Amino acid sequence: MKILIAASEAFPFCKTGGLGDVVGALAQVFSRAEGNEVVLFMPRYRNIGGGAFSLKAVGGSFLIPVGNSVETATMSHVQWGKVSVYFIENSKYFDRPGIYRANFGDYEDNDERFIFFSRAVLEGAKFIGFKPDVIHCHDWQTGLVSAYLKTLYRIDSFFSKTASVFTINNIAYQGMFPKETLLKAGFSWPDFTPDKLEFYGGLNYMKAGIMLSDLVTTVSPTYASEIQFRPEFGKGLEGVLRYRTADLFGILNGIDEEIWDPATDTFIERGYDVKSFLRGKAACKKALQHECALEESKDKILAGVVSRLDHQKGLDILFKALPEFMNKMQFVILGVGDPALTEAFAEMAKAHPRQIFFKAGFDEGFAHKIYAASDIFPMPSRFEPCGLSQMIAMRYGSLPVVTRTGGLKDTVNYTSEPKDSNGFAMDNAEETQLKSILGHAVSLFGWRENWNTMVRNAMKGDYSWTKSSQDYLKLFNIAYQKKQL
Ligand code: ADP
Ligand code: GLC
Repeated sequence: MKILIAASEAFPFCKTGGLGDVVGALAQVFSRAEGNEVVLFMPRYRNIGGGAFSLKAVGGSFLIPVGNSVETATMSHVQWGKVSVYFIENSKYFDRPGIYRANFGDYEDNDERFIFFSRAVLEGAKFIGFKPDVIHCHDWQTGLVSAYLKTLYRIDSFFSKTASVFTINNIAYQGMFPKETLLKAGFSWPDFTPDKLEFYGGLNYMKAGIMLSDLVTTVSPTYASEIQFRPEFGKGLEGVLRYRTADLFGILNGIDEEIWDPATDTFIERGYDVKSFLRGKAACKKALQHECALEESKDKILAGVVSRLDHQKGLDILFKALPEFMNKMQFVILGVGDPALTEAFAEMAKAHPRQIFFKAGFDEGFAHKIYAASDIFPMPSRFEPCGLSQMIAMRYGSLPVVTRTGGLKDTVNYTSEPKDSNGFAMDNAEETQLKSILGHAVSLFGWRENWNTMVRNAMKGDYSWTKSSQDYLKLFNIAYQKKQL
């Protein structure tokens, strides 16, 4: 099957969170399955993979209309294993310090940037002569791709047999723009109806992807249900999702088990597996405590956080609960995002340098060290489409402390029996509940046999893409077969 993936991030080229991990991992697993040919399209941002890849210019260019102007697209290419990666270039739109935003907020022309990218994906496929059986798009940034296929490109014979599948990684970010954006994108007013592109008088790229793709997926079974039936999760799109319910599937994310493998991880102090985690994790903990100038104690629980600092993640709740645990726990927090929370954590760390270490920023290597060194991994998310961090933490033997929502509910088991548990969970992201399960973690840490049973359960879990990638390929096939009728 010929699969074209279009996304705004893909690890190792560029990543702001789990979306990048998911796109990169899926491209690789799809390409390894027999009979597949995978092409990945993404924008060429200023910084691609920290310069570690030599991108080759693709000769020639093509034009993309955006509003009243016509923009030029060029491309560069890199062969990444069996995946052929094309970067869409336009310096006006993508040669910037940030991906979606600068310090002062989202880029004001994000509507144009992703009109340009989405249309360039289709023109780029034609340019290189890659006629996809399926186009797999992710999130609002590529929501317009399927909208184009169903409108402006409907009569284009190049795509007449191409199916589209749209994956919602996070419905909280929808790409909402005023109605003038409709014209910038080249759509016409007859398409500006509630069953297609119109959303409360404006254009909503996420809605466009949901309404106009052949099939829709999201990244965990629980989230698939939450976003249809609970407005606080669907964020205004629950009706639209219920309308597509027959074509909406929840497929749980996996993690790349080669990148996230404590036995071979070169970032961490000492490699370990499920048989040797006691000594391995102890060495990693000591090294991180030393690096962060924390008290070098074996007996205190080390809580690790690697996260976007966003309301979604509930770390403001952790911030409030934290003082109560200062004597029993240590905290190493790596995060980027909300300026107020950044400042609050930085100040708290300054006031308690032996108990709390905070690093603001995005740091891949330091993240690995935290997963390996920590005993627990608090993730008190208010909602969580899937969450990869809790799975990475479990693979590294750090017990996640989560809310029972979305993918957290689908991956973390917390029962009264340690033999059936691989972490800790609360029903709601609330300070009192968080304090209560953190308290339970502290007391259980004293019962090392039980604790270690849970660590073993966590480390032995299957977080691979094996089953989920097969589920995607089955859906691709269904969508493709329908197109051939
Ligand atoms: P989300 O996509 O909502 O941010 P996920 O749990 O799905 O959450 O994925 C987060 C991914 O991003 C994980 O790979 C995590 O290790 C990584 N990550 C998040 N914040 C940072 C950071 N500050 N530095 C390095 N890696 C980070
Ligand atoms: C989003 C979600 C996260 C999910 C990731 C990858 O960023 O917040 O829960 O794991 O996408 O699908």
